[in-house]
Order: sequence, then structure tokens, then C-alpha cells
Amino acid sequence: MITGIMRRAILGKKDKFLFEGYREGLIDFDSIGSEVGLYVHVPFCRRICPFCPYNKTIYDRDTAVEYRQALVRELNLYKPKLQNKKITSLYIGGGTPTLMAEEMKEVLEFVKNNFDFKGDIGIEVHPAEANGKLFDSLKGMGVNLISLGVQTFNDKILDFLGRGYNSGATDKALSIIKNCGFKCVDVDIMTNLPGQTMEDIEYDISRVYSYDIDQLSVYPLIVFPMTKMGAAIRENGLSRFNCLQEKKILELIDEVSRKNGYKKSSIWTYGKEGGSRYTSVTRESFVGIGAGASSLIDGYFYLNTFSVGEYIKALEEGKLPINVVNRMSEREKMIFWIFWRCYDGVIDGNRFAQLYNASLEKEFPFLFKTLKALGMAKVHNGIFELTEWGRYAYHLVEKQYSVCYLNDLWHASMKQPWIKEIRL
Ligand SMILES: C[S@@+](CC[C@H](N)C(=O)[O-])C[C@H]1O[C@@H](n2cnc3c(N)ncnc32)[C@H](O)[C@@H]1O
Ligand code: SF4
Repeated sequence: MITGIMRRAILGKKDKFLFEGYREGLIDFDSIGSEVGLYVHVPFCRRICPFCPYNKTIYDRDTAVEYRQALVRELNLYKPKLQNKKITSLYIGGGTPTLMAEEMKEVLEFVKNNFDFKGDIGIEVHPAEANGKLFDSLKGMGVNLISLGVQTFNDKILDFLGRGYNSGATDKALSIIKNCGFKCVDVDIMTNLPGQTMEDIEYDISRVYSYDIDQLSVYPLIVFPMTKMGAAIRENGLSRFNCLQEKKILELIDEVSRKNGYKKSSIWTYGKEGGSRYTSVTRESFVGIGAGASSLIDGYFYLNTFSVGEYIKALEEGKLPINVVNRMSEREKMIFWIFWRCYDGVIDGNRFAQLYNASLEKEFPFLFKTLKALGMAKVHNGIFELTEWGRYAYHLVEKQYSVCYLNDLWHASMKQPWIKEIRL
């Protein structure tokens, strides 16, 4: 209900977002722009963390080998669609993509040999898998951006989160990475974890910065209704900070970051002045490969089937493994664009006008009047920059978007490999 109210009041959109089951001809692939990012999803993990909403299943070597072949087949199907397009970045996420590091070599070779690819290659690394040999192998494959999913240094909380490593393993991984010469080392930290104190958070952030990393990504834990996290918190009688206290957490992270010489580079990330960034989610246009991967191309947002078995089977039959498609109206395209620019903390009205031949403030009068009136954004030369309050408000909106819209979309996709229609 809250999402419905937000959709109507803030965005002036009455109807729900419609996702249709994919059929040939539904997507006009000619609309893919001249520059596009590529994302490869690897849905395998050694163990399943109770808080995790992403598409993943337990790793098994035989399936991983078949999956590698399916990835190459899917890329092959995209070859004619991406001819004459520039691939500007390649991110490999999951899941735990390094479980398929060997297989990824072939996938990367295929991309390099068959597409006009020039850009950074980023990969997510789970601390339990991190070691010198893995990093050497990733470097050898051309990977230059690393995102290490540390989450916290608190061993008790790591245990509750079922992460399968302790803080000592993370320290070791960070010490090794430091000397590997990657262009960017990003560390993911989660806050507002069950039973966590403000001191714990300050300690985690300071300890990460002591490794002189390039970027810190801080995510407040979102309890997705489809996961087991809510029940686990209740059963263990653990408490979490409320949403006003969450504002204090954001202020604390800002302060610790400032003291350590790091500046905010997006809603959830901090980096050094002029430093390299790991930015897998903020492309204007990207094509996702793999089970559960999503793609955003001009006018279309679509998701592949989440089922690994169905994904492999579809590709064996020479079919694209696309499950559902949201054919975006002009207004939906604008909404999507604004949502992701808020993630960067900056909404450039001039770029909006270039893309949509329209004015931000005229198209979304309620949203932008409210942002200005409540001091949530400062405007300069048509560029809206979110203030601390604006960032906090976005944080609440993003949480709502995750627990309602994303949760329902992903949950439905996990239950049904091929969906006929869904409205959210
Ligand atoms: C794609 S995920 C997983 C990366 C990798 N598999 C790992 O576990 O280290 C990337 C990041 O999202 C964050 N994340 C995952 N689930 C979350 C949740 N429920 N709420 C907030 N952040 C979450 C974690 O910080 C995680 O490192
Ligand atoms: S958080 Fe990472 S390791 Fe844990 S289940 Fe999700 S993708 Fe796998």
C-alpha cells in the first residue's frame, strides 16, 4: 500500500508496473544505445546467508560447467544485437562468482574476442574464497576492480549471519589484496545488523579504512520478507536501530569517513578524491547475462529466468532465457532514470532534458517542489544535489522499493521460472 501511495503522490503514476511474459518480438533490441555495460550473474554460493535476496543456489561443479556453456551461448545470441555497440564495462556478480573463476576465463575471452569491449572488469569476492592464488588468477584474466563482501568484523554477528569466515580471514584477505595492484578495491560493509551497537559500526568502518582501500560501500541491512532473516531476528530476541537512529548511523559513517580522508561518492559509497570506483548498478543502460540477471535498455527492463536448470535448457534450445519484460512508457523511463540518479546523489536536469526532451521540474512538479521546500536538494544550474536530509529520504524510499517492489518481483521469479504476467 505504501508503495502505491508513494507511486501516486511522488511520481504521479496511477498504474502499477506491468511485467509481461517474454515472447519473440516483445523487445526491440535495436533500441540498445551505442554504449552499454555488461553484467554476468553467477548464481552459486557455498552456503546461503539468511539475509540474502539475490538469485543463488548451492554450488555444484557439474552444474557450474554446464552453466559456463550456457553463458557463452547467451552471449552468442547477443552477438548480432550488440554489433557496432561499445561495451564499456563488465561486472561479474552473484552469488559467489569466484567459485567459477576458471570457467570465467572462457567467458571473458569470448567477450573480448566477439564484442567491441573496452573498459574495466569488476568481480565480487567472498572473504572465505579470497587468497593470493585467486587474486593472481583474476589479475591474469584482466579483472581490475574487486568488491570484497566483508559485512562486519564482529565474529558473533558474522556467525549469526552464517557467513562462514571470521574477522581474521577478512584481515588476511585485505592484507593480500593491498599488494595486488588492482585499480579499485571496494569493501562492502553492512550496518544496523541484529545486535550491533554504534561502537561496533564505528569500529567496522575504521578498521576497513585502516587498509587504505579505494572505496567503501555501506548498506544498512534490509530485511526482505522473502528471506529467513526476520524470523531469525525474532527467534533470537535481537534488536535493531529504528529509522531515526539510522539517520545517526549515516552521520556517524560520514564523520568517520571524513576523518579518514574519504568523501561520499554516491548514496552508499565513499571514496578518495579522484579515486577509481566500483559501480555495478548505476549504468544508464546494461545487458545482464545469466540466471536471474536483469537488463535495462532504452524502453525495456527485463529479467532472465531465475531457474538455473531452465536457463541452461532454454539456451540448449537456442532461445533467449528472458522471463519477464517491463515495456516502459516514457514516464516509467523517466522514473527509472531519476531513481538511479538519486543513488548517485545528483540529478542532472540538463541530462534529463537531453534524454527526454522535457523539464524535470515540469514533469515531476510535486517531487521537485517537495525536495526544494524541505531542504532535501540544492539546485545549481539545473543540477539537483541531494542534501543530507535528501539522502536520508532516498534511503527510506530505497528501503521501501526493496521490501515491496524488488522483494515481490524476485520472489515471484524464484517461485516460477516462466511468469505470464505480474503487476507491481
Ligand atoms: C550481490 S551481494 C553479495 C556479494 C557476495 N556474494 C558476498 O556475499 O560477499 C553484494 C552486497 O550486497 C549487500 N547485501 C546483501 N544482502 C543485503 C541485504 N539484505 N540488505 C542490505 N545489503 C545487503 C552485502 O553487503 C553484499 O556484500
Ligand atoms: S550474501 Fe553472498 S554469499 Fe551470501 S547467499 Fe547471498 S550471494 Fe551468497
